[in-house]
Amino acid sequence: MELFGVLDYKNYMNNYYLPLMDDNITRDDVNSIVNFLNQDQIPKLTNGPKVVEFENKWGEWLGTKYNLMVNSGASANELTMLALKHLYGDGEIIIPPLTWISDISSVIFAGFNPVFVDINLNNLSFDLDKLKKAITPDTRAIFLTHVLGINGLTEDLLQLCKEKNILLIEDVCESHGTTFNNIKVGNFGFASNFSFYFAHHMSTIEGGMICTNDEKFYQICRALRSHGMMREMTNNEMKQEIIDANPDLNSDFIFIRPAHNFRSTEINAVIGLNQLPRLDKNNKQRISNFNYFMSKLDSKKYITDINLKGQCNYAFIVILKEPSFEKRNHLEATLKKEGIEFRRGLSGGGNQMRQPFMKQFNYNFNNYPNIEHVHNFGWYIGNYPSLPQEKIDTLINILNNL
Ligand SMILES: Cc1ncc(COP(=O)(O)O)c(C=O)c1O
Repeated sequence: MELFGVLDYKNYMNNYYLPLMDDNITRDDVNSIVNFLNQDQIPKLTNGPKVVEFENKWGEWLGTKYNLMVNSGASANELTMLALKHLYGDGEIIIPPLTWISDISSVIFAGFNPVFVDINLNNLSFDLDKLKKAITPDTRAIFLTHVLGINGLTEDLLQLCKEKNILLIEDVCESHGTTFNNIKVGNFGFASNFSFYFAHHMSTIEGGMICTNDEKFYQICRALRSHGMMREMTNNEMKQEIIDANPDLNSDFIFIRPAHNFRSTEINAVIGLNQLPRLDKNNKQRISNFNYFMSKLDSKKYITDINLKGQCNYAFIVILKEPSFEKRNHLEATLKKEGIEFRRGLSGGGNQMRQPFMKQFNYNFNNYPNIEHVHNFGWYIGNYPSLPQEKIDTLINILNNL
């Protein structure tokens, strides 16, 4: 079914028995925008009070002190890496090969060296032994991805960061509401990144958030969100230092480093404000659906010993136990026939080291067996709050009878 770019959205949804996502922007969300626009005085629609209100509400929901809305999760990634570079200079960033492309490109764009560490199949995050070996005096940060709502943190990993004094950055773009030790992930790192793209737990059409408790990092992110412009910072002491160092410049136009325009519009924030109050209720349903799905999936055929503690997933994870291309082809043909939309490779299509622009690094994929397995024999399928139980059961039956 070649759908994208060919059929309209309604047809796309009608063509699938089980699409990857449904109902993530509701009529009520649309009405919230209409009401917002329908004021006597048309509001300035660029980044303004609604963005600030959403940032504050988000901070209340997550628990972080400083929260900065940007125009996508990819922008959150890139801004985070640029700010780290600004504050801490050159070096290496440890990343997993199972993540979204922007986690890799943000590292490269900022001028850091990417160092890949294989995943483990229990929480789809770093293999801890390999992570330990990858740390060098040049390691600037560990950029962890919580994959598809599965908590990627362990006590040992946090202890390692503490002992080695290495910054942890959490990519939570796929895991809003996932917890570790009953605390929402996104609270454990020096900074965390979220995405509000349509496919995720909540949507602002496009949008993202950078969250931190570190004021200096936040202030630099404020400037870098808007072309690197110093006047976006709100800390007068930090600003004065920059003004003093640049007496030849007008303080309205001091650009602290080359940057982008990553600002959101007010419209995205209005949707976010309308969506946030229902996020927890929606997540509860997703958690229950995914636990049920994993409890019924045939453990002889599929990897089912994934750590589900604290999970909060908008997807059902399917990983074949046996590395069989024949079984993979059969599974994909059957899902297609049944109208079940899927993505192979889990987050970002699997092994990012295999992407064309990474070929120059000549990675030996034999050293990364777990991501290779997921790349070839893993999929995700949509899990959303309005998904009827009957469809979950049908999906389980199809998978278990293959
Ligand atoms: C782990 C991860 N990071 C970053 C992103 C980028 O987010 P966005 O699509 O909002 O740019 C995604 C996106 O889908 C993601 O899954």
